[in-house]
Amino acid sequence: MTVSGAFTLTGSETRLDPVIRNDPFPFYRAMRAQDPVYYDPGLDVYLVTRHADAVQVLRDDVNFSLEHGYQDRFANGHVEEFAAILDAHGGGFIRDLAVDPPRHTRLRRLTEKAFTAHRVKGFTERMRAIVIDLITPLGERGHGDGMADIGAPLTAQIICEQLGLDFAEVGTERLARWTTAVIAQIGRMQTREEMIANAHVICDLQNAIIKQIDARRAAPREDMISDLIHAKIDGEEGQVLSYEEAIATVRAFLIAGNDTTAAAIANLLFVLATREGLVEELYPQIDDERVMNRFVDELVRLHPPVHGLFRTAMRDVEVGGTVIPAMAQVCIMYASANHDDAVFAAPEAFDMSRSNLGANLTFGAGIHRCIGIALARSEIKIAAQEIVRHLTQIRLAIPREELTYLPTLATQTLTRLPLTFRLRGA
Ligand code: HEM
Repeated sequence: MTVSGAFTLTGSETRLDPVIRNDPFPFYRAMRAQDPVYYDPGLDVYLVTRHADAVQVLRDDVNFSLEHGYQDRFANGHVEEFAAILDAHGGGFIRDLAVDPPRHTRLRRLTEKAFTAHRVKGFTERMRAIVIDLITPLGERGHGDGMADIGAPLTAQIICEQLGLDFAEVGTERLARWTTAVIAQIGRMQTREEMIANAHVICDLQNAIIKQIDARRAAPREDMISDLIHAKIDGEEGQVLSYEEAIATVRAFLIAGNDTTAAAIANLLFVLATREGLVEELYPQIDDERVMNRFVDELVRLHPPVHGLFRTAMRDVEVGGTVIPAMAQVCIMYASANHDDAVFAAPEAFDMSRSNLGANLTFGAGIHRCIGIALARSEIKIAAQEIVRHLTQIRLAIPREELTYLPTLATQTLTRLPLTFRLRGA
């Protein structure tokens, strides 16, 4: 399989392979060069690996259905049993924004109302305070885990406070359990036993959301859940979210806004720990918004938290010279597209001066492009500013080869990231 460091595809390689999972980029490079729309026999999915081809699929929501892409293999083949558990114990089996137009168009217009500039901007200083409160005691201690001690609790607290959930009541661990259970339904690697356990965890999540929605229906508050349940499209009668849609949207925001951003913060710490001199190069520039925005763009290009998400081909469609047969599953490999040297010169280099930083596909493209992008980018930027302002000598505490990732194709999440560092000026 491996010839002098290069990867020669035989057609039997699969993204499920734990070796590939922990270091997928050589596999992506090989696919882009040798078989850009590669049929993965382990997943039974066509992996679309080149940037131009990924954009073609993302922008073609007629030939490529996201709704089918998520639903056809939802719960990894146990969808009826999964739905029965949710119906009996968790308020129902409810879909979120993972639907096709025209249903998506209406839902998207309503849910976007929770992401007003006012809501995101008004939270900036609160986010900064949360980051500082978290990293100061860790800095004094001198070591910590970039995922368990920083990425996960930081994003958990931020998304809970944004939505209006009581973080002290929810807690990082419960939110992590909820997140893992939901992500597992699209991650394609869960067994039936895991599905049953996860379905009960999702019931707990939905019941907690129902409690919050009911409280706000009685008395609105200044938070995103209130924005969602009171959102309406002006001038269009009856255009509000149904009770079920509100539950599904809060669930989507809570999960999509948690795991992905936690992975991004862990990746931020990984980059700061492994790119020699980067922390001190950034330090004098951390309050320069232009520089920090470029830093965030290059960080998420090089290390996207989401590696691949699914669509179903609704008819035979040619992509990159390969005909994808009707009803076949397709995975858009954002991470591979971000490393395509047809678009990004020297793609493995960390280069904040690229002229086309914004061409990364980290947040998707087309009608399903991430709805939380402004919040996510602002969260990563504030974390970067405060980590660099307060910490120095950030180093990996274990050999790089020992880092591993969670077993899911959707997100590429570090299982742990042991670090040492010092409080600046201490
Ligand atoms: C670094 C953090 C994040 C990354 C990398 C990320 C990535 C993505 C990607 C790639 C998509 C497109 C899905 C597709 O095409 O199938 C997406 C959609 C979505 N994201 Fe994010 N996301 C992040 C943060 C957030 C946050 C903070 C929220 C909410 C608070 C959020 C909510 C959503 C929702 C609801 C969708 C579905 C949109 C639709 O279908 O119209 N995401 N995200």
